[in-house]
Amino acid sequence: MRIAVIGAGSGYMPGVIRGVLHRAGDLAGTELACHDVDAGHLEIMTRLARRMFSAAGAAVTVSAHTDLKAAVDGASYVFTTFRPGGLAARHLDESIPLKYGVVGQETAGPGGFLMALRSVPVLLEIASLTGPDAWIVNYTNPTNIVTDAVARTTGARIIGLCDQAIGDTEMWAELLGLPFEGLEADWAGLNHATWAQRLRLDGHELDLPRLLDDLEVPGGGATPWRDPSRMAELAKTLGFLPNSYAKYYFFHDEVVEELRRKGTTRAQDVLAMLPAYYARVAAEAEKADPDPSRERGGGEHGEFAVDVICALHRDEGRRMIVNTRNGGATPSLDPDAIVEVPSLVGRSGPVPLTMGPLPAPVRGLTQAIHVYERLASDAAVTGDRRTALQALMAHPFVRSKHTAEKILDEGLAAHRDHLPQF
Ligand code: G6P
Repeated sequence: MRIAVIGAGSGYMPGVIRGVLHRAGDLAGTELACHDVDAGHLEIMTRLARRMFSAAGAAVTVSAHTDLKAAVDGASYVFTTFRPGGLAARHLDESIPLKYGVVGQETAGPGGFLMALRSVPVLLEIASLTGPDAWIVNYTNPTNIVTDAVARTTGARIIGLCDQAIGDTEMWAELLGLPFEGLEADWAGLNHATWAQRLRLDGHELDLPRLLDDLEVPGGGATPWRDPSRMAELAKTLGFLPNSYAKYYFFHDEVVEELRRKGTTRAQDVLAMLPAYYARVAAEAEKADPDPSRERGGGEHGEFAVDVICALHRDEGRRMIVNTRNGGATPSLDPDAIVEVPSLVGRSGPVPLTMGPLPAPVRGLTQAIHVYERLASDAAVTGDRRTALQALMAHPFVRSKHTAEKILDEGLAAHRDHLPQF
């Protein structure tokens, strides 16, 4: 079997290699066809992969490609994890909206909208190269909009991924003093806008309202991914668990102030660490038994993606939280919306589980986000400026025609080399 990895030069690749290793028995005989537009980073990561597979005695081969068609040809799974324009483009996504008093945010914000405009044309090209029985397993952000655009406009089979549900369940385990192992939350909604009204430990339902009543709001401790203090404050008011990205909706103006005070974007912070990071990975790839750092992608990112591929391939019917067509999972969103819900993943794709209505305090917000995402997906496919403007006007962070116009005009100009559809 062939698995194509598009964006294999990414700093997240060591985690993907680890993910393949942890399922090496199930993937014996697989070829990992690695693609990246950055030949230098691709060379480092493929060298690392070969060395790690051979050190572990894994029967997985690696090929390197800078030509997309050569990588995708004959692949049963096309795993997409690239960022068009790289982190320099992410910096623009994050900084342009901030000039106008709006959190840019590279996935959930108008920054994610600009990224969708760049990501979707590449995904559509990949979909046109992918065989009819192959699955696109997509991490490229914003995963919900990208998945929606491909699912609605091509015949390709696609499943959208995000590891946030795993990371957030881990954060809530810590906050609520529960073991992470055996803890299952019913995250449901849209990517980076999910909510959990039910929590189980070893299959037994916990009394979430009581746990939240007893929860003491911790002070500080925020990292780029986690803000436990705000999450606890929010959950105590809502009465259910919010996704970490809820902070951008419910603390928007405070976050604007914090970002302005901080002075650098997350993209700039990551860019500053990457040269040393790649140098360390390259040095690790020379060792007999490499053990690269987990700085990028943490622990679960790569393993989750490979587990999804194995669940599809081996028809495991495993419960996983993925982005797929709603059907009847929640009546609060359109049946053909791409939702993030627990699903049983097997050979014929994800089967979403029934989650019921989204909780009232965030139902309208989630519906508004869906409307924005649909318009963004349409704009990214068609390159229609009016639809793009409507999308930004519908975005809950923006809510202003003139602000939307400024972000759109500046964003289209800044990214014009990556926007063939406009
Ligand atoms: C989380 C989100 C991803 C996002 C990533 C950014 O994992 O779920 O969608 O891409 O954070 O992390 P970074 O370290 O690049 O800011």
